[in-house]
This record gives sequence, structure tokens and C-alpha cells, in this order.
Amino acid sequence: MAVEKLLLGEVIGLPTETVYGLAADAHSELAVEKIYRVKGRPSYNPLICHVSGPEMAARYVNVSSTARKLMDIFWPGPLTVVCARKPECKIADAVSAGLGTLAVRCPDNEATRAVITALNRPIAAPSANLSGKLSPTTAESVYKSLSGEIPLVVDDGQTSVGIESTIVAVDGDRITLLRPGSVSADEISDCVSLPVHDRDTSVITAPGQINSHYAPNSRILLNCDQPNGQVMIGFAGIEGDEDLNLSPDGDLKEAAHNLFEFLRIADARTDGDIVIAPIPQRGVGIAINDRLKRAAAPRTNDNKQVAND
Ligand code: TXA
Ligand code: MG
Repeated sequence: MAVEKLLLGEVIGLPTETVYGLAADAHSELAVEKIYRVKGRPSYNPLICHVSGPEMAARYVNVSSTARKLMDIFWPGPLTVVCARKPECKIADAVSAGLGTLAVRCPDNEATRAVITALNRPIAAPSANLSGKLSPTTAESVYKSLSGEIPLVVDDGQTSVGIESTIVAVDGDRITLLRPGSVSADEISDCVSLPVHDRDTSVITAPGQINSHYAPNSRILLNCDQPNGQVMIGFAGIEGDEDLNLSPDGDLKEAAHNLFEFLRIADARTDGDIVIAPIPQRGVGIAINDRLKRAAAPRTNDNKQVAND
């Protein structure tokens, strides 16, 4: 069913281990354009190509030995690798938004990998939310934000990781972190015995780096230790609303798993502010704080102009 829809040029919801994706045949310029339209995503913000493994990736991009090592170690899993497109690359130009590079990742979800294998080509998929809104970790959230726009969402329950993949650009043996995720920069660096550079923040290489993002409707206040009459999301010893402690045990992976779902619940519960306990800036905590900072960033009236994943 999913494969047939994709072959017809349709856009569908597919699960991954991080968040649900809004998927299309990556070879089809028309299908990829549909993703941008359905999501309300600006055309300059490139998409991730989901592949069945390193061999499929190597059909489309130059995979350096360092890039290959990362793929072998972390795939299938939540690491996206940005490499130079090969001249003969058949991926629709719109996927790269005109850049000479392509982001590839192999998702750790069997159903979705089976779809990619059956299609025998990559699936382009951003997170299946309207541009600038919270990423969906359940099929129900995809339906809620995109109902009527897409013919199918493959339901594989709540995603395990809960926040989007780590993104690194790999040029030869130079690794640059573009987006923090559940695979930390330290882990990557240790595995390949190479430094992981921070991106040059004066240059926007991926428009998802622009500030306001993941915006719920409510205002978000960070690093609070008490609710002050508002809905509160807790962490570890700092209690939130009864059912809204990201991880009573202080487990950052559990906190990442719960993050977007709890923000969604809190947002539905209040017209006021959402206050959030401090999250330690280490391991996955770095990625959680990145998402929270964007959720709390000031917005313009037209959120779509600054928020774009
Ligand atoms: O976990 C994930 O990565 C999820 C699931 C569905 O795979 N996908 C996801 O896609 O988060 P999206 O579109 O929401 O975020 C992709 C990010 C954007 O910030 C985009 O700018 C960046 O990847 N990106 C894509 N292609 C790029 C490229 N060629 N160079 C630099 N950044 C790129
Ligand atoms: Mg996104």
C-alpha cells in the first residue's frame, strides 16, 4: 500500500525511530514538490533522503572513508550524514534545495526500511509536521496536523528516540555538527578518533538553523524550578504537573522520548505559559536544549518566515 502510493507520486506519513516523516519518492521532482506544499516549507530548506543502507547512499553521494565509517557504526540509526552529490545523482534537485550536497540517513525502523527496499530508491522525508510546528512522535499527531492532505500514515506506535536525528556534514575527514541529536558529538568523535567541529554560526548552511522553530501556541519559559501557577514540565527532582515529568529518574534519553509529546499535551492544557525545568547540557540534553531554545525563541507574526522544518 505504502509503496503503491509512493509510486503514484503521493506523499504519505511513515514512522522512523526519531519522529514521523512526510515521505515521497526522492527521484520524483513532482512528488518532492508536494512535500514542500503540504508542509508549508520554504523551498530553500533541503530534505533528508532516507536510504536502505550505505550502498544505496553511495549511488547518489561521494562517501569518504570517514563518512562510510560513520554509516557502518551508526546505521540504521539517528545519524544523518551530509555529503557531496555525485554528478550523476538522480535525486530530485528540490530535495537538496539547489545545494551541491545531499543529506542521507538510514532509519532504524523495519517497516520504513522495507518500503525503501521495495521501492529500490530513497525516500525524501522531513518531519511530518506543518513547518515550524512540533515534530510528531505518533501517527495520531501526524493525522491531526495534516489530515485531509495525505492519503496514508503508516502507524508504528510512538517513536522510540523522540527527537530528530543528529546531522553532520562530512567533507573528506572533516566532520561538522549541523544539528545536535541523540547521537552526541562526543560519541561520534570517539568512534572515528576525529574532532567534530561546530558549524560556523555566521553562515547558514541549513535553513533549519534559523532560530524560531518547534513552536507550540503557548509561550515557553525555560530553566524554571517552580510552576508559578502555569503548566509545568518537570525533569528529575524538579516536579512538573503530575503526569509531565520528562524523566523522574533524570534519564536524558527518556526525556528526549517524551519531549514533543509532553509539549503537545501541555500546549493543549493551557492558554497561558508553559514553564520547563532545567535540563543538563550534556549528552542528549544538548539536543533537548537546542529544541527547547527554538521553541522558546521569539516569533514573528508569520511564524513560517523564520521557522522552517
Ligand atoms: O530524524 C530526522 O532527521 C527526521 C526523520 C523524519 O528522519 N527528519 C527531519 O527532517 O528532521 P527535517 O526536514 O525536519 O530536518 C532536516 C534538516 C533541516 O534542518 C535541513 O535544513 C537539513 O536537515 N538538511 C537537509 N539537507 C541538507 C543539506 N544538504 N545540507 C545541510 N543541511 C541539510
Ligand atoms: Mg522538522
